[in-house]
Amino acid sequence: MASTETAPHDVETALQFAKNDKRRMLHVVYRVGDLDKTIDFYTECLGMKLLRKRDIPEEKYTNAFLGYGPEDTNFVVELTYNYGVEKYDIGTGFGHFGIAVEDVQKVVDKVKSKGGKVTREPGPVKGGKSIIAFVEDHDGYKFELIQRPPTPEPLCQVMLRVGDLDRAVQFYEKAFGMKEFRRRDNPDQKYTLAMVGYGDDEYTTTVLELTYNYGVKEYTKGTGYGQIAVGTNDVYETAKALRACGGKITREPGPLPGINTKITACLDPDGWKSVFVDNADFAKELE
Ligand code: CO
Repeated sequence: MASTETAPHDVETALQFAKNDKRRMLHVVYRVGDLDKTIDFYTECLGMKLLRKRDIPEEKYTNAFLGYGPEDTNFVVELTYNYGVEKYDIGTGFGHFGIAVEDVQKVVDKVKSKGGKVTREPGPVKGGKSIIAFVEDHDGYKFELIQRPPTPEPLCQVMLRVGDLDRAVQFYEKAFGMKEFRRRDNPDQKYTLAMVGYGDDEYTTTVLELTYNYGVKEYTKGTGYGQIAVGTNDVYETAKALRACGGKITREPGPLPGINTKITACLDPDGWKSVFVDNADFAKELE
């Protein structure tokens, strides 16, 4: 048997593990062309805090972590600035990040006062009551502002487009151990969306919002969006489960050279990347 194949009883164990593992969405990684401008926009207009920053001159990049709470409890954004790269292609597959705010109009006014771009004025969603708006950052990443009461996790959505919703949801349920919280078909606008994630519901945790546009099977990935990171107690079992469900392992499980944090990485059936990070190693990184 090839070393990349897994015996059937091992597959069962791995899938069971994926279901019961201690998992949480840790952060979303993407590239920006001007770190200072982006940090200013996120902190001044969107109300995020700059949590940490690390410059790796020998590799010619800088990371900045921003969010609404500490990294050991909250989902955050990890921005990468590559020295000298000022522009990225966002692609057609990435949708938006969702942010729950108490007053959408107030945030939109702030964005306008700072010269930011509003691509959809505040107003109720079609056929619903909740107030939303869309704004765009310096690089063209869209943020959906969703009016909600205070929540422990304001950074509440990462929307990605997929070519087959059932296939995608099944993958995130089985291989990632996520739950489907909600599915909504919008025949008028020819799309179906599904909210999948960890935790109890889509209002107190971050979800992946998967969107299927009728008839569209393929999207471009661009060069800007990177991946989400998910915490796990065992990257080795995780990789087995991912592989058994049709995920493509792009990094075999094991410690990263230099920092010894154990990770594994995969592509989902649509080619979206995720990295699983060992929980204990991640906690050490934050110390
Ligand atoms: Co959304």
